Amino acid sequence: SFEIELVPGGEIVTVGPEESVVEALEREGIFVLTSCAEGVCGTCLLELVEGEPDHRDHYLSDADKARGDCFMGCVSRAAGGRLRIKL
Ligand code: FES
Repeated sequence: SFEIELVPGGEIVTVGPEESVVEALEREGIFVLTSCAEGVCGTCLLELVEGEPDHRDHYLSDADKARGDCFMGCVSRAAGGRLRIKL
């Protein structure tokens, strides 16, 4: 599991091994719009403030991933440590 921190509110949400970032947020009453839930459509894009994502989508380009300012919440996870997202 790993943690995400919401910016600027500061809330911490733990994402369990069997759930996605979107599902963990939903459990806390924070709803992110999704469509495919498979990392291909781009609907669930989350803005990353800090942290290293483990990109598992097929939507972002290599340039997007290199920039490190967003990730797809339906499939991608943390590569280690906490992800701080603007939400
Ligand atoms: Fe389609 Fe996440 S809902 S990429």
